[in-house]
Amino acid sequence: MKKHLYILFLLSAFLPAYGQSRQNIEQKIEAVLSKMTVREKVGQLNQLDGRGIHGTIEQLKELVRRGEVGSLMNITDPKIVNQLQEAACKESHTKIPLIFTRDVVHGFKTMLPIPLGQAATFDPDLVKEGARITAVEATEHGIRWSFAPMIDISRDARWGRIAESFGEDTYLTGQMAVAVVKGFQGEDLANPQSMAACLKHFVGYGAAEGGRDYNSTYIPERQLRQVYLPPFKQGIEAGAASIMVSFNDNNGIPSTGNKYLLRNILRKEWGFDGVTLSDWGSVTEMIRHGFAEDRKQAAEIAMNAGLDVEMSSKSYIQNLEKLIAEGKVQETALDDAVRNILRLKYRLGLFERPYTDIHKPKETYSAKHLAVAKKLAEESVVLLKNENKTLPLSANIKSILITGPLADAPHDQLGTWTMDGEPGKTQTPAKAIANLYGNKVKVHVVPGLTYSRDKNQSTFDEVLRMARSVDAIVAFVGEEAILTGEAHSLAALNLQGAQSELIKQLSATGKPLVTVVLAGRPLTIGKEVEQSDAVLYAWHPGTMGGPAIADILFGKAIPAGKLPVTFPKEVGQIPIYYNHTNTGRPARGNEKSLDEIPLNAQQSVLGHSSYYLDIGSKPLYPFGYGLSYTSFEYADLKIANTRLKKNDTLSVSVVIKNTGQYTGTEIAQLYITDQVGSVTRPVKELKGFERVALNAGEIKTVHFNLPVSELAFWNSVMEKTVEPGKFKVMVGTNSENGSEATFEVL
Ligand code: GLC
Repeated sequence: MKKHLYILFLLSAFLPAYGQSRQNIEQKIEAVLSKMTVREKVGQLNQLDGRGIHGTIEQLKELVRRGEVGSLMNITDPKIVNQLQEAACKESHTKIPLIFTRDVVHGFKTMLPIPLGQAATFDPDLVKEGARITAVEATEHGIRWSFAPMIDISRDARWGRIAESFGEDTYLTGQMAVAVVKGFQGEDLANPQSMAACLKHFVGYGAAEGGRDYNSTYIPERQLRQVYLPPFKQGIEAGAASIMVSFNDNNGIPSTGNKYLLRNILRKEWGFDGVTLSDWGSVTEMIRHGFAEDRKQAAEIAMNAGLDVEMSSKSYIQNLEKLIAEGKVQETALDDAVRNILRLKYRLGLFERPYTDIHKPKETYSAKHLAVAKKLAEESVVLLKNENKTLPLSANIKSILITGPLADAPHDQLGTWTMDGEPGKTQTPAKAIANLYGNKVKVHVVPGLTYSRDKNQSTFDEVLRMARSVDAIVAFVGEEAILTGEAHSLAALNLQGAQSELIKQLSATGKPLVTVVLAGRPLTIGKEVEQSDAVLYAWHPGTMGGPAIADILFGKAIPAGKLPVTFPKEVGQIPIYYNHTNTGRPARGNEKSLDEIPLNAQQSVLGHSSYYLDIGSKPLYPFGYGLSYTSFEYADLKIANTRLKKNDTLSVSVVIKNTGQYTGTEIAQLYITDQVGSVTRPVKELKGFERVALNAGEIKTVHFNLPVSELAFWNSVMEKTVEPGKFKVMVGTNSENGSEATFEVL
């Protein structure tokens, strides 16, 4: 007997502290399901909003008592959460608890940098830590299901939602997806401080034609498999609890009604057993798509395609019973959807612990949380230019002018999808520089413009007078938060309002000019870069962006961020991204510029290659670009074995030296080129990166180990395989510069 108890004890050590075994949960699901009416089953798939659009709290309680609601969005008062939970657990027939959901994307109260900024850290461990503190803050307010991470590959800066993405690269996005899933969900989803993650938007939303939000996409299956789907698969393998479908129709089929995506790929191929849910009203939006006749057919299409939970649009609760009675939807399909949502509720431990502990000491805005937010903001900043050692501001700078509409913009600094962040808690650059460095330099703050679209130049004279009197100028320009995010596409990416004029006139003073950009997307700032001595790209850096930028300006922190997205010179270059195919006539790089084209030129004098007559073929900055206050040298790239079999591992090493005066961190990037394939292959693909901290003069050898299986791609007959042949490896400081070597797969 003792032996069995000992074995049971040992086994229990491997069970999650709060959770239950999978088998135990499945048994409980069947027991609950067997007692539910069809209407109660449909009720579990109905998600409503708690902000008033679907009724008052009292009206929602009544729907809950009737078993007609399974989850509620946007209620963040834990007392109200508990009242509604009581209506579900004590006053309904099924006693099934509710899940409370929210868009907790980059912080709850303590706002982290926008996800595009977090991607620039190339630091998944820190991003995971940020997601963890976010889950702690959200769960203490009653939220147990967040609609994040957004992992849409984004190659188009006109699309406002690039701000909430992790950029253009599949590998980097996959790393970040896993980091956020693990940060939100912790080791045990049933831990009351864990929050269900939701991978979104499934799939291809970032390829909206023209960068115009919600627009159609035309992504062929190979590109879906190669570029857009992998981060979702990685997120699911990391345990992501749910998937949100995307608004777009791809090749004519709205994701909400795409059975191939929802059943074939998600369930059959990937074995996903979590919850799928609509994006807001995307079920009934299939009517506008011209894909459903009416609300009833929209419900039929979505349920038969495999969409479990309907957010907001109520076509399920209004039609599914009829559709089942008419045989247009099978009750087995309904049962499967209900199993998925019940499984999530069991995994969250809600049947055992449905209520939010409102007496537990709050951790929101704790010093630890603010420190993590600051570290993320620091690591997200990308140094784009630093001439004449302008930065860090040296000890002989005795007075500075802080100017520009983003210098003291507590609301805009937080960025898009700031649902609960409080501008009153934002530490802005203007305030932080004065507080932290006001004892070292005289700080003058003259904004010049009051918001990014401001065209009023009436205070420029005052700005310029001050500029001429100080030792250095720091101008904070960029975008208001409202110009980024959902439904906020832009056709032009230049600085709004009179910001460019401000930079131009500041530059004309001849004083050292540092331009800091706070934005939610790449902007076409080539002119302003030329006019500035140094440029920092700080995205929308969140609550602690001010102290982070201040410490970088004065050298207490050394910038190390790298661009997670290509910066175009002009919007006309879009889509522009590093891992493109080569074409049969790639740009040579020596094409004549517009001014060099001779008059009355003959048709063929300019050659025949793929570039723009007016701006050439290169971006303003390539993917992976970012400078430091120090410098790094790469040498001795070595491949342990240059002839590899398909089940081998590519082992690469490179020596990196800090050749400058400052301690710094270099993000060494590993790119692979498959030189010949049964389909054309990208000119290179990121397959690894390492953050390497080096003191001045220090040398380190960095190792990368890449299983050859990671070189697999979808070939000409749509099989995922590694094809033998010659490959190139590049390890470098960005996607354009590095040491190269070749190897062969046999
Ligand atoms: C929005 C967004 C989605 C969000 C949802 C709920 O339309 O597309 O990302 O999670 O609605 O707010």
